[in-house]
Amino acid sequence: MITGLEGLARPLLRLLDAETAHRLAIGALKLPPHVKLTADDPRLAVRAFGLNFPNPIGMAAGFDKHGEVPDALLGLGFGFVEVGTVTPQPQRGNPRPRVFRLPRDRAVINRLGFNSEGAAAVLRRLASRADRGGIVGINIGANKDSLDRIADYVRLIETFAPAVSYFAVNISSPNTPGLRDLQQASTLDVLLARVMEARARVSRTAAITPVLVKIAPDLTLGELDDIVGAARRHRVDGMIVGNTTVARPATLRDRTLAAEPGGLSGPPLFALATRMLAETYVRVEGAFDLIGVGGIDSSAAALMKIRAGASLIALYSALVFHGLRLVGRIKSDLFSALRREGLGAIGEMVGLDAAAITAEKWPI
Ligand SMILES: Cc1cc2nc3c(=O)[nH]c(=O)nc-3n(C[C@H](O)[C@H](O)[C@H](O)COP(=O)(O)O)c2cc1C
Repeated sequence: MITGLEGLARPLLRLLDAETAHRLAIGALKLPPHVKLTADDPRLAVRAFGLNFPNPIGMAAGFDKHGEVPDALLGLGFGFVEVGTVTPQPQRGNPRPRVFRLPRDRAVINRLGFNSEGAAAVLRRLASRADRGGIVGINIGANKDSLDRIADYVRLIETFAPAVSYFAVNISSPNTPGLRDLQQASTLDVLLARVMEARARVSRTAAITPVLVKIAPDLTLGELDDIVGAARRHRVDGMIVGNTTVARPATLRDRTLAAEPGGLSGPPLFALATRMLAETYVRVEGAFDLIGVGGIDSSAAALMKIRAGASLIALYSALVFHGLRLVGRIKSDLFSALRREGLGAIGEMVGLDAAAITAEKWPI
């Protein structure tokens, strides 16, 4: 059984360096058989971006960067899986070590720098499973040494449209120098114009694939105004809020490791990411749905994200410390919350606290 194996394996995996442990986890997920789950209760279903999600909990980008195990993850109970980030050409990323666990904070710092097997390899895998169903999105990014980063995104849209459920345009990784500059108003305008044009072009032959934009939690509210404005003008289908942070909250306890450069994730990111989510929600005014990511490590945190404005949520770091059982626990607790409050669907809770959160003192 996965749960028994997992209970044994996790303490051992923790002795290994974080990236080696991750490779072993991917290897284990490639092994049959996986536990067959019963179908999710229809009250956990979410319709967003024109897609039907069986439940609102996704595997965030970065775990299955190369599209090796999306079906195993769906089989373990995730409502969707975001593969990637994938870049057009294969690239190795930064030198190791480049992933660090902060056990006392239950956090992770990574500076992987888009290590990717490249579009061709990932497309082969995703195309071969495309008719199996399940929601599998692709997170796309530019090559580090690309001379035309916008052209990289366009190319990835054209390449992956027939094989994926949605695109996440990643302009928020802190580990590719200059990538976050794509969030600046004038550049973002050009990027979104070209991405949406590419999507329209390929949609003549394939079904319309939703385009979401994944942003950093480290934006000023002025920058967020511009980004949401551009996203609405270009009619993107949604936003993901957000990526890892380059901030280092004063509350971090693993101070030595906290000095490692890279993006911080896990609970120390929760307050900032949830504030940015609520700020985004009030600016979007229902024009599209949001995926809330950053620091979810419990059912309570999942519920807070939804009430802050997330139609769907995704997580990664918590799995390192709590294992995959967390997914089932969050689903059953969300279901109990619905029953307790006499609600018929998750959608009825989305954004209920957004305005109140934006009135609180700024976190960090
Ligand atoms: C090791 C690691 C690798 C990641 N790689 C990516 C990536 O390739 N693309 C991306 O958009 N986000 C990436 N992320 C960010 C996650 O998708 C997520 O936005 C962030 O970790 C916050 O969620 P969490 O606190 O639940 O981990 C990565 C995160 C971690 C920990």
